[in-house]
Amino acid sequence: MIFDPVLLTVENLRVSFDGFVALDIDEFVLHDRELRVVIGPNGAGKTTFLDVLCGKTRPDRGSARFEKFDLTQMSEDAIVKAGVGRKFQTPSVFTSLTVYENLMLALKTDRTVLFSLVSRLSDKNRDRINAVAEQTGLADHLHTVADALSHGQKQWLEIAMVILQDPELFLIDEPAAGMTDEETVKTGELLERLTMNHAIIVIEHDMEFVRQIARTVTVLHEGKVLVEGPMDQVQNDPRVIECYLGSAQH
Ligand SMILES: Nc1ncnc2c1ncn2[C@@H]1O[C@H](COP(=O)(O)OP(=O)(O)OP(=O)(O)O)[C@@H](O)[C@H]1O
Ligand SMILES: [Mg+2]
Repeated sequence: MIFDPVLLTVENLRVSFDGFVALDIDEFVLHDRELRVVIGPNGAGKTTFLDVLCGKTRPDRGSARFEKFDLTQMSEDAIVKAGVGRKFQTPSVFTSLTVYENLMLALKTDRTVLFSLVSRLSDKNRDRINAVAEQTGLADHLHTVADALSHGQKQWLEIAMVILQDPELFLIDEPAAGMTDEETVKTGELLERLTMNHAIIVIEHDMEFVRQIARTVTVLHEGKVLVEGPMDQVQNDPRVIECYLGSAQH
C-alpha cells in the first residue's frame, strides 16, 4: 500500500494535570489525507490529545511536528493559521445568525463580526460558501437561523465553518454524539468526502459510526496508545475488549 507523505509526527508526548498523567504517547504518525479514528474508554486522554494539537493544552514534554512546525510550541491562533482546524465537542455557532451569516464569519476570521456582516462578499467567496453548504447538506438552510437547526445540522454547520478555513489537518471530537442514525450515516459520508482535501483525526464513541468510516483506528487507554491498526483487527483484539469491558461507557 502506498501512503501519502507524513503530515503529523507526535513523539514522546506527555500531559499531566497536578501529577496525574492524562496522556503519554510514544509515537503517533498521520499521513496526508488520512482519516484516523481515535477511540478509547472515558478518560482515556482523547480530548486531551486534540487539546495539545490545537494549542489549548501545553504538554510537559514531547513534540508534534506538523510540516515545518512543532505544534506544542505554538499559540492557538498560530496553529489555525498553520493549517490545523478544530471542531469542538459542543457546538459553538452564533445561534441568532443564519447559516449563511455564520459561514461568512468563518471566512473572515480576522475581521470584526459587524464588519463581516455589513461588508460585501466577493463572488469567489460566495461560491465557496455555497459549495461548502452543499457539501455539508446545508444548501437548503442557508437562510435558516442557526438556533432553528437540528442538533445534527448545527454540527454540520460547525464542520462547514472549519472547512472554510481550509485546514490541512482537521480535528473533530465526537461529531456523531447526540445525532440520529440517519444524521450519523450522513456525517460519516461527509468525513469520507473531506479526506479528498484534508487529513482528519476524529474521536468517536459510536462504534457503528467508527465501523462505517474507519480505516486505521488508534485505541487510547489511560493516556497510552494501546493498539493501532485496521478496524476489524482492533475490535477483536483482546486488550481492546478488556479495556472497554473494564470501564463504563457513556
Ligand atoms: N483540565 C484538566 N484538569 C485536570 N484533569 C483533567 C483536565 N482535562 C482532562 N483531565 C483528566 O485527564 C483524563 C483524560 O481526559 P480526556 O478528557 O482527555 O478523556 P477523553 O478520552 O476525552 O474522555 P471522554 O471519552 O469522556 O470524552 C481524565 O482523567 C480527565 O479527568
Ligand atoms: Mg473527550
